[in-house]
Amino acid sequence: MTGDTIRIAAVADVHCSKTNQGSLQPIFAAAADMADVLLICGDLTDYGFPEEARNLLAELAPVKIPIVAVLGNHDYESGNVEEVKKILTDGGVRLLDGDSVEVLGVGFAGVKGFGGGFGRRTLEPWGEEATKAFVHEAVSEALKLESALARLQTPQRVAVLHYAPIEATVEGEPREIFPFLGSSRLEEPLNRYRVAAAFHGHAHRGAPEGRTSTGIPVYNVALPLLRRTLSEQLPLKIVEVPVPEPVGTRDSAPARRRDDPQ
Ligand SMILES: [Fe+2]
Ligand SMILES: [Fe+2]
Repeated sequence: MTGDTIRIAAVADVHCSKTNQGSLQPIFAAAADMADVLLICGDLTDYGFPEEARNLLAELAPVKIPIVAVLGNHDYESGNVEEVKKILTDGGVRLLDGDSVEVLGVGFAGVKGFGGGFGRRTLEPWGEEATKAFVHEAVSEALKLESALARLQTPQRVAVLHYAPIEATVEGEPREIFPFLGSSRLEEPLNRYRVAAAFHGHAHRGAPEGRTSTGIPVYNVALPLLRRTLSEQLPLKIVEVPVPEPVGTRDSAPARRRDDPQ
């Protein structure tokens, strides 16, 4: 924390595999040196295997600052999501799924999100049950984000997502897959609660920054994108968020440092 700002280090799509051995550690160690909190915005693992989650914890071992994360679609692939959640949570990662946490006076609200497309071309719940179920998932994730933001009493709120809330940060991907990369339904809560910033991943070939219709900054922090646009050696997005005084009433549980006693 510098003065009255909090430094956020963010990355997504680390896709930790069964064979990962130390390759992510330098990135995470740099985050701990440079920032007050580390955000990992989904696709924490490659297939959602418990062994991959344990490998990720080993990679995160040097990190003593709070780690706030959401899951991504890859973390669901092998059907072990509950075990993956437990491993990471027991390991000190604050995993958000429609809930929130306060770190140094800033509130973080997180959901995975879902697809469905953007703007006027957003998929509507019409016709087959399968289409309605798909749209329902996107609506449900947006509602979870909204209630997580509403619960925060902090003057500054930050949103942590896996799927993109705006089209601008998926630009660069093939246009045909835009509807699978995010949903405008996630944008509305960001505008309503005037979040300081939103972070997401999933669009590996997208664009690094964009803004919502009301000017909220949105950062795509997918690891392959950061390697390409920031640095091959240090693919980490650092964003400073001012923390106004007074901080006010705090509803949500403060995050522990990872070396605090359990
Ligand atoms: Fe990914
Ligand atoms: Fe993904």
